[in-house]
Amino acid sequence: MSEIRQPLTVAVVGATGLVGRTMLQILTEREFPIGDLRPMASARSAGSTITVGGRAHTVIEATPDAFEGVDLALFSAGGATSKALAPEAAARGCTVIDNSSAWRMEPGIPLVVSQVNPDDLEAHEGIIANPNCSTMQLVPVLMALRDGPGLERVIVDTYQAVSGTGAKAVRELEGQIRAHAAGEPKEAAVYPHPIGFNALPEIDVFLDNGYTKEEWKVVTESRKILHLPDLRVSCTAVRVPVLTSHSEAVHVETRDPVTPARARELFARVPGVVVEDDPAAHLYPLATRAAGTDEVYVGRVRTDPSVPGDRGLAFWVVSDNLRKGAATNAVQIAEVLVERGWVRRASERAPVGVAGGSA
Ligand SMILES: NC(=O)c1ccc[n+]([C@@H]2O[C@H](COP(=O)([O-])OP(=O)(O)OC[C@H]3O[C@@H](n4cnc5c(N)ncnc54)[C@H](OP(=O)(O)O)[C@@H]3O)[C@@H](O)[C@H]2O)c1
Repeated sequence: MSEIRQPLTVAVVGATGLVGRTMLQILTEREFPIGDLRPMASARSAGSTITVGGRAHTVIEATPDAFEGVDLALFSAGGATSKALAPEAAARGCTVIDNSSAWRMEPGIPLVVSQVNPDDLEAHEGIIANPNCSTMQLVPVLMALRDGPGLERVIVDTYQAVSGTGAKAVRELEGQIRAHAAGEPKEAAVYPHPIGFNALPEIDVFLDNGYTKEEWKVVTESRKILHLPDLRVSCTAVRVPVLTSHSEAVHVETRDPVTPARARELFARVPGVVVEDDPAAHLYPLATRAAGTDEVYVGRVRTDPSVPGDRGLAFWVVSDNLRKGAATNAVQIAEVLVERGWVRRASERAPVGVAGGSA
C-alpha cells in the first residue's frame, strides 16, 4: 500500500472550542497541506458556520461515519468523545492525534512532543496522543538536562491559566473580575471556588494518593516521553487567574554537576526553546508575553544550594497552553507524519524500498 497522497482530508473534532479553534488557526498559519477540511463538534454546534483562512465551513456532527475518507483527525473534544470516537475514526483508516488524556498512558500509543520524541510516531497504529499542557512545556527543557548532566529528580509547581479549562472558565474569570469591580458576589460554577483573585491547588480530580490527576499526568507523561520510566518526579498543580500561558517553577537534581550558564546553553540548543534570563533588566519568561507564540520560554536559572555538589538547578518555564501546550504540538505531530510518510498506521505502510512506498 502506498502512503497517502497530499493534500489531505483533515478533521478537527472540537472545532468550536478554544483548542479546536486554535488548531484551525495554526493549520492555516503553517500552511498544512489540506485538501478538504471537516470541522466537527457535538450536535449542539452542528450546522453552525466557522471561518477558517477566510473560507466559511459548516460544522458537522462528530459521528463514526463522519470519519469516512478522513486521512487525519485532530481531536480536542474531551476524554469521553476521544474514547468513543477515536477508535471509530481509526477503524475507518483515519489517523487520530488526540489532545485528551484518554489514550496517553496506553501502552503502544505514542505520546509525543514534536522536538523531544518524534521517532516514537513511526510505530503508531492509528491513534497518537498529545501530552497534557503542563507536561508539554516541561519536557523539552528536561530533555536538555537528560542529555547533558543527567536527571535524578524533578519537582514542578505549576501556575496554570484558566483557558486550560476551556471557554467556560475564561468567561467565569472575566465575570468574577467584573463582579469584583461592581462590588457583587463572585459566582463559581466551573471551579469549586472563585478563581478571581485566588489560587486553587485543585486541577482535575483527586486521586487516592492525595495528588490530583493533573499532577499525576505530569509525573507519568514526563517519564513516558523522556523514556525515563524511573525518573523521580513530584508536582503541585495550581490554577491561577491568568487567561493564557502556564508558568512552572521547576527544581531539578542532576546526576553530574551543572552551572546555570551551562544549563542556559543546553536549553537554548533545543528547537522551540528560548532563554529569557536577565534579572538585572527584569527579564524572565512571562505569561502575557508568551501568549500567542509557539515557543517554550525558560529563565531565572540558578543553582539550588539545597542540593549538594552543584547538582541542583531551579528555573521558571512559561508557554502558551493553547498553542504549544495543545494545538501547535498537535499540528507539529501532523507535520512530522507528512514529512516522514507516516500518516498511515505502521501496519498499513509499505516497507521501505517497496515500489509505491514512501515510508
Ligand atoms: N485548553 C487547553 O489548554 C488544553 C490543553 C490540552 C488539552 N486540552 C483538552 O482539549 C479538550 C478541549 O479543550 P477546550 O479548552 O477546547 O474546551 P472547550 O473550549 O470547552 O471546547 C470543547 C469542544 O469540544 C466539543 N465537544 C464537546 N462534546 C462533544 C461531543 N460529544 N462530540 C463532539 N464534540 C464535542 C465542543 O463542541 P460544541 O460546540 O458542540 O459544544 C467544543 O468544540 C479537552 O479534552 C481538554 O482537556 C485542553
